[in-house]
Amino acid sequence: MYLKSLHLNRFRNYRDREVQFDAQKTIVVGNNAQGKSNLLEAVELLATLKSHRTSRDRDLVRDGDEIARVSATVKRSYGETDMAITLRKQGRRVVTRNSENLRRQMDFLGAINAVQFSSLDLDLVRGSPDTRRSWVDGLLIQLEPVYAYILQQYNNVLRQRNALLKKIRNLEENPPSRELTAQLALWDAQLAAHGSRVTRRRARVLERLAPIAQSWHQQISGETEVLEIKYAPNVARSQDDPEQVQQAFLEKIQQRRVAEQNLGTTVVGPHRDEVDLIINHTPARSYGSQGQQRTLVLALKLAELKLIEEVIGEPPLLLLDDVLAELDPNRQNQLLEAIQDRFQTIITTTHIHSFDDQWLQNSQILTVEAGEIHPFVPNI
Ligand SMILES: Nc1ncnc2c1ncn2[C@@H]1O[C@H](COP(=O)(O)OP(=O)(O)OP(=O)(O)O)[C@@H](O)[C@H]1O
Ligand SMILES: [Mg+2]
Repeated sequence: MYLKSLHLNRFRNYRDREVQFDAQKTIVVGNNAQGKSNLLEAVELLATLKSHRTSRDRDLVRDGDEIARVSATVKRSYGETDMAITLRKQGRRVVTRNSENLRRQMDFLGAINAVQFSSLDLDLVRGSPDTRRSWVDGLLIQLEPVYAYILQQYNNVLRQRNALLKKIRNLEENPPSRELTAQLALWDAQLAAHGSRVTRRRARVLERLAPIAQSWHQQISGETEVLEIKYAPNVARSQDDPEQVQQAFLEKIQQRRVAEQNLGTTVVGPHRDEVDLIINHTPARSYGSQGQQRTLVLALKLAELKLIEEVIGEPPLLLLDDVLAELDPNRQNQLLEAIQDRFQTIITTTHIHSFDDQWLQNSQILTVEAGEIHPFVPNI
């Protein structure tokens, strides 16, 4: 796929700017706090309807304005599509595809696919389980847009079940009344039904991703390290059978009944999943030097690119936020070779000189200064 143009209106620190992309690689140069990451964030938003930097739309609207709009034209094998998101300081967002308002988010997702790689991604190794769950979810949303809906449903059930458990905990009577017990049983069944959908999809995507990541990792580390990616679901399952998985949920809910009522919160379900990243039989978090952890993240990102390409049938966009300079020449080359000219890539940097001539020659180079974008004019 190819992103032809991107239009940022009152988005973050941009007043009104449109970029036409005219090469397979675009390098965006600028000092700190000028708007480089904001630009990539806009593309991420179009691909996933999420930003990894904020969950509040009001942060995305330019200070002093009420409404922001991000739009883009993307070329796919089946034709061109115009995508747009309108964000408000207060109120709901509106998403459109070819100027048609869409009621469901999942009808918007899937038109633009992107893999983002920034220095924050080191948190995939070092951060809390939550970071890894969001990462897997973000990938799933792109591969199967219906997953956005599945996850939303699960989170709704979780919220309501938590409210009920809290209510039960705060009651005087113990055990709870028959009415409350019956209500809880209904939520148990909902949790099992929706939770098993989430779990099964996460298991499947990790099963596909793991061998690809492993192979990249071996290549980048020079065959010296073996990477394992293991899904550690909160509710273990022995097979990918919906009924069996739901049954496992209900059994675990039974086991943890007292704990849940004492804590007043749901402790069973995929919101407690973990993804274990293991290098040479040791958790990568405690194993790796920074360089080794970077190798791991690079392998994960390259695996995402390849998996999306495999599933979607078209290469996704690659967004590299200030990471190239952090990679040593060997890893830079690995990345370069993996991307070649197949993936349209947008790269941000503070220093144009950190780039190999090979990159510069075939790239479109733009500068960003205080939310203004211009073609790069070299100082001669
Ligand atoms: N809603 C907003 N309205 C106006 N300005 C904003 C808004 N949100 C962020 N900014 C501004 O955008 C700038 C940050 O932009 P961005 O994160 O894209 O920087 P960057 O060029 O990637 O910098 P770095 O090299 O440090 O990563 C900051 O100056 C910040 O104040
Ligand atoms: Mg930045």
